[in-house]
This record gives sequence, C-alpha cells and structure tokens, in this order.
Amino acid sequence: MTIIAPSVLSADFYDLKTQIEELNKSEAKWIHYDVMDGHFVPNLSFGPDILKQIGKHTDRVLDVHIMVSNPLKVVDYFSGCPVDYMTFHKEAVDDNVLIPTIEKCRLKGWKVGISIKPGTRPESLIGVLELVDMVLVMSVEPGFGGQSFMPSALDKLDWLDNYRKQHKLNYLLEIDGGINRETGKLAVEHHCDVLVAGSYVFKYPEGIVEGVKSLL
Ligand code: DX5
Ligand code: ZN
Repeated sequence: MTIIAPSVLSADFYDLKTQIEELNKSEAKWIHYDVMDGHFVPNLSFGPDILKQIGKHTDRVLDVHIMVSNPLKVVDYFSGCPVDYMTFHKEAVDDNVLIPTIEKCRLKGWKVGISIKPGTRPESLIGVLELVDMVLVMSVEPGFGGQSFMPSALDKLDWLDNYRKQHKLNYLLEIDGGINRETGKLAVEHHCDVLVAGSYVFKYPEGIVEGVKSLL
C-alpha cells in the first residue's frame, strides 16, 4: 500500500492546528516536514520547535527532509525531536561526511534517508544504499512547493528499485515535488513507496482528507 506523506510546507501556518487535525483524520500515514536553510536552497522554512509541537498532536510518522548545507551539524538541532525518518541531501556533503552523518542519525534513534536533486544520478549513491532506510528522489528543484513534476525522476526510481532487488536491500523509495493524482500514479507504477504531496493535498478543493484519499 502506498504511503502518503503530506508536506506541511503548503499548510496554512495561521491555522496549523486545524491542518494537523485534518491530517490526523486522513489516510496519510506520514507527515513530511521540510527544513530549508536559505543556503542549500534559496528559501527558509522552519526548525525543530514547530516539529516538536506537531509531534505532540499527531501519531503519524514524522518524515523530516533537511535541505541544508551542513547536515552533520543541523541534525543536532533536532536532538530530542519526534523524528522518525531524517533525510539529508547527498549533494550537501563531501563523500567522507556521508557515513558519519548517517551514523549520527542512527545514534539518535532515527531511520535515515538520503536524497538526490534532479541533476544527481542515482548511481552516485552506490556505497551508501546499503546503509539507508529510504532514498528520496526529488522531482523538482528543492526549495519551493507548487512546482511542476520532472518526469526524469521516474527512471531514477526504476534504477533504484532494480538495485534494491538485485542487492536484496529494503530501503523505501520516496518521491517529492509536483505530486498530484496523475504524477503520483506514475511514480507508483515506477515502484515508489512514499508520495510526498504539498500543494496538491493542502489546496485540494474538497479538503485535506479527500485530497489524501485521491492519491490512494
Ligand atoms: C520542495 C519540498 C517539497 C514540497 C513539495 O523543496 O521538498 O516537500 O513541499 O511541494 P509540492 O507537492 O507542492 O510540489
Ligand atoms: Zn520535501
């Protein structure tokens, strides 16, 4: 069964309480939380304090996506936060920092994801794929909600699915950016397990609960 992970980046921040209550009523099993540092991506979002508040009011899996230049340091800001998955970007770190970042997350008790931007090939993750619980394929340039889906992400899902089967690995495949009913269906056809959807779910005319349902 496909997991839906609505991205609260597109929520109505003035009424976050109601938005989380709607997610709690929905079939979304996860909540996606985008952290942006104004350096790795040209935007700023939120940090650990809002995540703590959300965690107090939901039992959903909290899926944190950090779009930051220094994940090895930033993950420490989330110590004590209700993180289930912590996903950082391959492009943000030198190769010799990849494994220490993964290990630091594990010591905090989190599952770990690695993400690639549209210009990064999945082959560049060889050597890391054995160590992660999830691979997040970006289907837009990270930084903003509401952009159009890039179909080049689909080949990457195929490659990553093939690799996990060949090597008997269990990482989940997640896609993020421009997901709606059509692109979500395509991603699932290409072996995706987790669909992140921001603007589609939060701006769905019949509301969040129906928006999530329409992706299943
Ligand atoms: C973009 C973020 C996404 C964003 C997706 O950098 O990582 O999670 O919220 O938004 P939509 O679904 O509107 O493309
Ligand atoms: Zn994201």
